[in-house]
Amino acid sequence: MKPQLILLAGNRKVLFDFPSRLPSDINKDQFKQVVLNLFSNAVQHTNPTTGVIQVIGKINEKELSLIIQDNGHGIPQEHLPHLFERFYKADASRSRAYGGAGLGLAISASIIELHGGKIHVESKLNAGTAFEIVLPLT
Ligand SMILES: Nc1ncnc2c1ncn2[C@@H]1O[C@H](COP(=O)(O)OP(=O)(O)O)[C@@H](O)[C@H]1O
Ligand SMILES: [Mg+2]
Repeated sequence: MKPQLILLAGNRKVLFDFPSRLPSDINKDQFKQVVLNLFSNAVQHTNPTTGVIQVIGKINEKELSLIIQDNGHGIPQEHLPHLFERFYKADASRSRAYGGAGLGLAISASIIELHGGKIHVESKLNAGTAFEIVLPLT
C-alpha cells in the first residue's frame, strides 16, 4: 500500500515505517480502508509542498498499533470529541471545499471498534494532527 499512499501525497513528504506483513487475523481490506481514510485526510489538511505525513506501525504479540501524523493546520480542541461522529466536519467553510461528507472517520472508527480496537486523536492548531489506532491481536 506504500506506493499508493506516496502517489496520493503528491509533493508532500511521506515517512513510512510499517511491517511489510500484516498479522493473519487482521482483515486486510478493512485495515487498508482505515489507513486510506486517515491518510487522505492528512493529505487534504497539509500544505501541498511543505506537508509531511508519517505512517508508523508496530506489531507485537498482543497488538498492532498505527500512528498517522501530519504537520497540517490542526483541529481546534473543541471539535476533537465529535470528530468520529457521522457527518461531522471540524470546519464547515474550509471543509466544504474538499467536498467530503464527514463520514471517513466515522467509518474508520466503526471498523476499528468492530475488531475490539481503539482510535484516538491528538491535534495542535497550526502544528498538526495525529491519529493512533490500537488493534488487539488474538
Ligand atoms: N488530519 C487532519 N487534519 C485536520 N483536520 C482533520 C484531519 N482529519 C480529519 N479532520 C477534520 O475532521 C473532519 C472529519 O473527517 P472525515 O470524517 O474524514 O470527513 P471528511 O474528510 O469527509 O470531511 C474533517 O472534515 C476535518 O475537519
Ligand atoms: Mg476524510
